[in-house]
Amino acid sequence: MEVYIMCFRRLLIVLIVTLESMCKSEDCYCLRKLVGDIDSPVFVEQDPVNRRYYVAQQSGVVHIYSKDWEKESKPLVNLTNDVHISNNIWDERGLLSIALHPQFHSNNLIFTYSIRLINGKEYAVVSKLEIRPDLLKEDIILAIEQANQKLNGGQALFGNDGNLYVSIGDGGSLDNKNISFAQSSLSLLGKILRINIDKTEVVDDHLLFYSVPDDNPFVGKTSWRSEIFALGARNMWRCSVDKGTGYLYCGDVGDTDTEEINLIKSGKNYGWNIFEGSVAKINRTKNEAIANEGPIYSYSHGDMGHAVVGGYVYRGKAFSSLFGQYIFGDYVSGKLFRLKLNESNSKYNFAQCTQNKCPCDARDKPGKFLQSFSTDNEGELLILTKQKGEILKLIPPLSAVTTCGSCQLLPSAVVLLCTSVIVTMLYSI
Ligand SMILES: *[C@@H]1O[C@H](CO)[C@@H](O)[C@H](O)[C@H]1NC(C)=O
Ligand SMILES: *[C@@H]1O[C@H](CO)[C@@H](O)[C@H](O)[C@H]1NC(C)=O
Ligand SMILES: *[C@@H]1O[C@H](CO)[C@@H](O)[C@H](O)[C@H]1NC(C)=O
Ligand SMILES: *[C@@H]1O[C@H](CO)[C@@H](O)[C@H](O)[C@H]1NC(C)=O
Repeated sequence: MEVYIMCFRRLLIVLIVTLESMCKSEDCYCLRKLVGDIDSPVFVEQDPVNRRYYVAQQSGVVHIYSKDWEKESKPLVNLTNDVHISNNIWDERGLLSIALHPQFHSNNLIFTYSIRLINGKEYAVVSKLEIRPDLLKEDIILAIEQANQKLNGGQALFGNDGNLYVSIGDGGSLDNKNISFAQSSLSLLGKILRINIDKTEVVDDHLLFYSVPDDNPFVGKTSWRSEIFALGARNMWRCSVDKGTGYLYCGDVGDTDTEEINLIKSGKNYGWNIFEGSVAKINRTKNEAIANEGPIYSYSHGDMGHAVVGGYVYRGKAFSSLFGQYIFGDYVSGKLFRLKLNESNSKYNFAQCTQNKCPCDARDKPGKFLQSFSTDNEGELLILTKQKGEILKLIPPLSAVTTCGSCQLLPSAVVLLCTSVIVTMLYSI
């Protein structure tokens, strides 16, 4: 009998919440935990053919998970002896992203972006790995010296054009903001680079494992590194390509004031360290010729958070109301936001749904901190958290509230009975 009373109470609550939600249409998301207890997951790539997941951890290991999230004992790659990171949980170094080659299934190539120690100096390293059962072959493509332990950038990804784009942080000084390399045309720090890794080149007697595309914006300009695609980046930790339009979006982590979402265009200057958002930081004349390209969206430090995590333009199927919108988050607040991408790029808050609006298997709470986003083969959004080491999937809410647990197990006749009792009660009031 007790269970019937419980069921009755629950149904009553459900009815009230339903009536409430009918009056106010809620714009929210649910989270389904796919896997947990991963030591600082930073990025996920899904194999396009066998559908396994490759989960990159900051420590340097890339573990393999089956399509049902069973972990394989042998990692895909183990770079723990190569990448540089301390035991401090705030350390931003280590392995920061991986990118499967667009023809991964025929060439087994995977690209990594990591911070490494070479001859006692710290470098941002882009490497090419050939995955083979017998041996692991790694070629270092770029090694860019860092001036400090933060502002590491972090994303290496393939554009729709087949080129590799890399977001290199401004490895300048944290204490003296006058020192920055982001505006320097001869430094690769504080830049978005664009290189063709399918073509090698010999330059000044050195074999390079990449070439510079002819249509890079500074090709042929004296005093410019031709790898530069865009400049003025502070710490573009997460970038993504919109599979629909081919546009490149980056979240640029700010200093003391402003977090930015940037649409990265060829040859543009994203302002750092002259500007942080629209705040002028210092007076400098260098590269004034290339005007500051403002962010498509920015926010001041406060309720929204303190460190932007660039996300994705949603191109999945499951969450149709998000299609074509840019979803991003904040590392500190753990909040998600949506940008409607049009001329006004309006921001909308995007909260987690109340539990009873979510499917029973998608009622997980994210822990701290919102470290990163990734997408699966279907374009569904994955959220990677640092403290609990979870990978969560963004799930749309149900159209009606629902209860989970013992009531669900009751025969539908009982549920019908409960409902009719409620209806009778409501009528008799
Ligand atoms: C990765 O390599 C390190 C150093 O050789 C080793 O200690 C660690 O157990 C390896 N991790 C995995 C998951 O194989
Ligand atoms: C930065 O440069 C300005 C002048 O350009 C100078 O006044 C200021 O002292 C410098 N700050 C530091 C920390 O060196
Ligand atoms: C830049 O120069 C202008 C005019 O001299 C001054 O008003 C402003 O405070 C300066 N800004 C910074 C960030 O130093
Ligand atoms: C952009 O979206 C906003 C909010 O939905 C709307 O008011 C505005 O008309 C849209 N602009 C364009 C150019 O579509």
